[in-house]
Amino acid sequence: MQHHSMPYENIYDLIGQTPLVRLKKLSQLTGSDVYGKLESYNPGQSVKDRIVIRMLEAAESDGRLQPGGCVVEATSGNTGFSVAMICAAKGYDCILTVKDTASYDKVQMIEALGAEVVMCDGTLPGDHPDSYYNVAKRIAASTEKGFYLNQNHDLGNAKAHYFTTGPEVWAQTEGRITHFVACASTGGTVSGTGRYLKEQNPDVNVIGVDSCTDVLRTFHETGEFEIDRSKKSKLEGVGKNIIPSNVNFDIIDRFVNVQDDDSAYAALHLAKEEGIFAGYSSGAAMAALEKIALEIPKGSTVVVLFPDSGARYLSKIYDKKWMVKQGFLNGKSTLVEAH
Ligand SMILES: Cc1ncc(COP(=O)(O)O)c(C=O)c1O
Repeated sequence: MQHHSMPYENIYDLIGQTPLVRLKKLSQLTGSDVYGKLESYNPGQSVKDRIVIRMLEAAESDGRLQPGGCVVEATSGNTGFSVAMICAAKGYDCILTVKDTASYDKVQMIEALGAEVVMCDGTLPGDHPDSYYNVAKRIAASTEKGFYLNQNHDLGNAKAHYFTTGPEVWAQTEGRITHFVACASTGGTVSGTGRYLKEQNPDVNVIGVDSCTDVLRTFHETGEFEIDRSKKSKLEGVGKNIIPSNVNFDIIDRFVNVQDDDSAYAALHLAKEEGIFAGYSSGAAMAALEKIALEIPKGSTVVVLFPDSGARYLSKIYDKKWMVKQGFLNGKSTLVEAH
């Protein structure tokens, strides 16, 4: 954790060095050391600060982003907040295309930072001309000094995790980590962190978490890119309808897919049992860990990455009315049932 003994020149200088905290109940239940990495401690309150600062500064140094430029990105929320925050601090304009399934509070926060939000139909496939990816690309191409960040395909994303998250997790566990669990959307977190960890110790298990849409898990296991349109996920930031270049399938040992209700219950459980108020995808990562916990040998050291805070989901999983509307009732965490 940063000690803040000196003032910082810029809000983005606070990015990274997030804390690792023991999950006491889960460690007791599994007989392993289980830790959560709390990415909500970044100044933009999510893991996405790490990739945005790296990709923007790379673009500044090679001239793709010029003074007075306008940064454009397709984002379900967290990346948008980080882009808007860093653009505000560095003096760039910012336009974000957002799926209309994103929570209203996330959109309000982005607008508070001065970014322009363009709402897009979240149900369209990635290659549709009006998908939020293609709208972002069009806006960047038609805006003077427009720069499309492209978190899915710019490999600076996974590199940011290779150079920051990976070394932090390795140092914080003093090299004892045996399992790393993280949600995969762009795949940057799990692939970049996983690559660093495997370079230190090839036996580290790297586990990617996919939603019920299951596109990445299916691709990993069969090599087939299949979209089953009957499967939709309520999760934000997990559940791809494309195969991003940042997913490094050779680094990821396995994908575990999780249901939306289990992910929500796991997040609520994490708050009540461990006092950690984390986001919906943190619940997904916990639900995945619960699914495989009995296969993890006792005495292991497990790190689960929590991408953001529960504050971003007050109108979703932390709203009883929303939960009832989804049909998510009386849920229990599967691990607790298994013991
Ligand atoms: C809330 C949330 N969880 C998880 C992820 C997945 O992280 P990554 O894109 O590095 O795979 C994202 C980002 O897309 C996110 O916004």
